[in-house]
Amino acid sequence: MVSITEAHGPLTRDPRPSDPERSDPGRPQSRDEWPRLTEALIARLDVPGPRYTSYPTVPEWTDDFAEDQLYAALDEAGARPADQPIGLYVHLPFCEERCTFCGCNVVVTRDPARADRYLDYLVRELDLMVPHLGDRIRLGQIHLGGGTPTFLTEAQLTRLWRAVTDRFEVLPDAEVALEVDPVVTTFSQVSLLRSFGFNRISMGVQDFDPQVQEAVHRVQSVEETADLVAHARAEGFKGVNFDLIYGLPRQTPESWRQTLERVLAISPDRAAVYSFAYLPELRPHQKRLPVADIPTGPAKLTLLGTAFEAFVDGGLQPIGMDHFAKPEDELSQALAAGRLNRNFQGYSARPAIDTVSVGVTAISDVMGRYAQNVPQLNKYYKSLDDGRLPLARGMVLSEDDLRRRWIINSLMCNGTVDLGAHATDFAAQMPALAQLADDGLIEQQGSRIDTTPLGRIFVRNVAMVFDAYLEKNQRRFSRTV
Ligand SMILES: C[S@@+](CC[C@H](N)C(=O)[O-])C[C@H]1O[C@@H](n2cnc3c(N)ncnc32)[C@H](O)[C@@H]1O
Repeated sequence: MVSITEAHGPLTRDPRPSDPERSDPGRPQSRDEWPRLTEALIARLDVPGPRYTSYPTVPEWTDDFAEDQLYAALDEAGARPADQPIGLYVHLPFCEERCTFCGCNVVVTRDPARADRYLDYLVRELDLMVPHLGDRIRLGQIHLGGGTPTFLTEAQLTRLWRAVTDRFEVLPDAEVALEVDPVVTTFSQVSLLRSFGFNRISMGVQDFDPQVQEAVHRVQSVEETADLVAHARAEGFKGVNFDLIYGLPRQTPESWRQTLERVLAISPDRAAVYSFAYLPELRPHQKRLPVADIPTGPAKLTLLGTAFEAFVDGGLQPIGMDHFAKPEDELSQALAAGRLNRNFQGYSARPAIDTVSVGVTAISDVMGRYAQNVPQLNKYYKSLDDGRLPLARGMVLSEDDLRRRWIINSLMCNGTVDLGAHATDFAAQMPALAQLADDGLIEQQGSRIDTTPLGRIFVRNVAMVFDAYLEKNQRRFSRTV
């Protein structure tokens, strides 16, 4: 077996003298161990594939999804018992600077007044949707995403919070979260948000290395990040998360290791380590990156292996795909109990719930329907001026979609699925599953599929077997390595 260690420097740690079993290739691997990999296998697995934040994936949704279909879904949701909590997502697209790595749909501006107008329209959108929910207005989850939600001034954040609490009841145990960029976020904003009841905070970090930061146009010091974490913790935020990205230009195993050490010294409760999605056709500003310095293939995977090992050594455990958490964090506990969940915002320890979303690009997920808003501000405003929901596309999920969604979610969250009585419906998938078993990604026992440590790293490849739409869309996705 050719180790990619030979070609690209140490990917896995040397077997420890105190742990002779580490070098035994026949020994089953534990969940928290970086798998043995060959270059040939990596090459075979490195294909374009969805990240499965939804199933069916967005390219499958169509623009003939009409607002009546979302209203019907909201009416159905409203007919359910009022004590069943729902989720609310609010998209705030503004950023002060363009980070050139960024794959998100953002509006770059230095004018805070632009958010005033946007807030006017968020309120209009809420007022079109919320009446359909009837009495079902208890929020169990709230998430502000972006863009950068803390682009909003304190007065604007206060206005937004009033708009939410005037229309919904926030449950006392609700998970109330937001994404922030530590560079633009003040202590005072964090304290204000905590006073509203926000209890989860996710910070964009990406990489601490100055050369990488310069390459991706995102300069952020370790100190300002550490200070914001300390302040958020002192205010009572739990589950502090860092977003990191591997595969950014100029990242080397050494520079990345230093970043990881600095992250561990700050000790977030959770870390997401995303694979850099390089999609220059979709995001032309990514062409400004030093493209020749972007690590790919085995070199990129080495970076993920380095993060995996550094975090496991540092006391975090792998969660689903790309995520890590301290053992005492509720995500780790949910994983141990087999009840980890996933939504458009990431992993959650809470059960999946109907989620109403507002703002440009926002996606509602209600009663088996997905509905996404337009990305352009002018179109968003125009629709609402005309009294129409600003929808771009959507989908009504069939029974088959719902079943495959359940399988894919189960694999992506808990690393296992029992097809049960459905196993016979997936006879066509058996050769692909047998290949995955041969490659060491899964173990199959009857109708049950368990991912191995290797399969958990490449869980997108396992999930792809159950994707009924994959072939026609494959070119639109980032690569799985
Ligand atoms: C919309 S950002 C929100 C946080 C905030 N705006 C910031 O930049 O700190 C959400 C996260 O998406 C991830 N992300 C953005 N572009 C990405 C890309 N091209 N590939 C992988 N992850 C990406 C980053 O880790 C980022 O923190």
